[in-house]
Amino acid sequence: MSNCCCNKEELIALDKKHVWHHLTQHKTFETSDPAIYVKGEGMRITDINGKQYIDAVSGGVWTVNVGYGRKEIVDAVSKQMMELCYFANGIGNIPTIKFSQKLIEKMPGLNRVYLSNSGSEANEKAFKIVRQIGQLKHGGKKTGILYRYRDYHGTTIGTLSACGQFERKVQYGPFAPGFYEFPDMDSYRTKFEHNDELGKKMALQMEEVIQKVGEDEIGGVIVEPMTAGGGILIPPAGYYETMQEICKKYGILLIMDEVVCGLGRTGKWFGYQHFNVQPDIVTMAKGVASGYAPISCTVTTEDVFQDFINDPADHDGYFRDISTFGGCTAGPAAALVNIDIIEREHLLENCAAMGDYLLEGFKGLKDKHAIIGDVRGKGLFAGIEMVKDRATKEPIAEPIANAMVGAAKEAGVIIGKTSRSFRDLNNTLTLCPALIATKSDIEEIVAGLDKAFTAIEKKFNL
Ligand SMILES: Cc1ncc(COP(=O)(O)O)c(C=O)c1O
Repeated sequence: MSNCCCNKEELIALDKKHVWHHLTQHKTFETSDPAIYVKGEGMRITDINGKQYIDAVSGGVWTVNVGYGRKEIVDAVSKQMMELCYFANGIGNIPTIKFSQKLIEKMPGLNRVYLSNSGSEANEKAFKIVRQIGQLKHGGKKTGILYRYRDYHGTTIGTLSACGQFERKVQYGPFAPGFYEFPDMDSYRTKFEHNDELGKKMALQMEEVIQKVGEDEIGGVIVEPMTAGGGILIPPAGYYETMQEICKKYGILLIMDEVVCGLGRTGKWFGYQHFNVQPDIVTMAKGVASGYAPISCTVTTEDVFQDFINDPADHDGYFRDISTFGGCTAGPAAALVNIDIIEREHLLENCAAMGDYLLEGFKGLKDKHAIIGDVRGKGLFAGIEMVKDRATKEPIAEPIANAMVGAAKEAGVIIGKTSRSFRDLNNTLTLCPALIATKSDIEEIVAGLDKAFTAIEKKFNL
């Protein structure tokens, strides 16, 4: 018989005893208790002590795009699970067919949807597609993949091999060969002059790496359309247009990692749709079903797909990949309703408008608090970079950034930050409220941050 536990103290004690939390140094629980959340409703979270917060990070990691407590998603999933909960995805099922068609409507130029169940996995599929095309079409060449400094693509050894955040890789090597880094697109800290050529100059840095490594080696490039956990970086005008030209010039497949930006986060269905760029492969996860069920997608053009249409007698001519849980029907059933909600409630428009309002609020905070060096964002994807000194842009120390997240929580607002990504740049607060945020929610978030900045300035004598 299991030891059933219901009271708060028991649950906390058992959490400490048995649960291994993500990204957590458990030594801290020798002197403090882990937080436990028990309820989510709309934008609100309630913890085990009954304290309520406004969630300005959509479930911690940019996921619950349509907010908590959506009964219609739960009902659709429940109905589908009674109908057919699972069969391996070599066989068709109705929610996957309907969801794929609906998703493709939002992605002109793309045509095929491959399901798995995490962002890392979706990106691994993209890497495997590039590598296999290298074998099928290029005589074993063009299997290398470029990735950008500051971008993150997942937690597996393959995706960490393509990780532009040094601190996340420490102690997990050796990594897979064939991955090459090129410089970031940070406009705030760029070495280039701010003028009309900025985007182009930044993107041309990728070409330098291609020339160094050899164009025969490189088959793909993976980027986040806007860098998320690496510090909320929005590319300057012309950046992706130049990148696309370089990809065409060297025959390189462009992979957009929309794991964070996809499904409305930046005010359009996908982040890349803000730019004049046509990716060959797009990956997504997190907001696809807003966390109601795990699902990720690797979406390709028909051209990419056609590279895998070969003689059935050829054992190696098709995409020899499987994801067991890519056959769970709960994911596409939830994702279908998720898209429906975004459309019906005009959440893209709301996200764009509330994003502007949030950024306006941030600008007000910057006028008031000298610790803020830069504010930036697109839609409800926003960041506040904190510095010791605005003139030198020296980043504030990481403990101050951590304390700021704590102070915001104290003020009732759950926010995030660039976390152990770089040794010296863990200084940007990240915010991504659900796309349902109202003006008063945004005001509450900004007021909470204001209070937290004041508390931090006092505590650290800034
Ligand atoms: C841009 C990006 N890509 C990929 C991933 C990996 O997704 P997952 O944690 O679902 O494997 C993340 C996770 O934070 C991400 O931010």
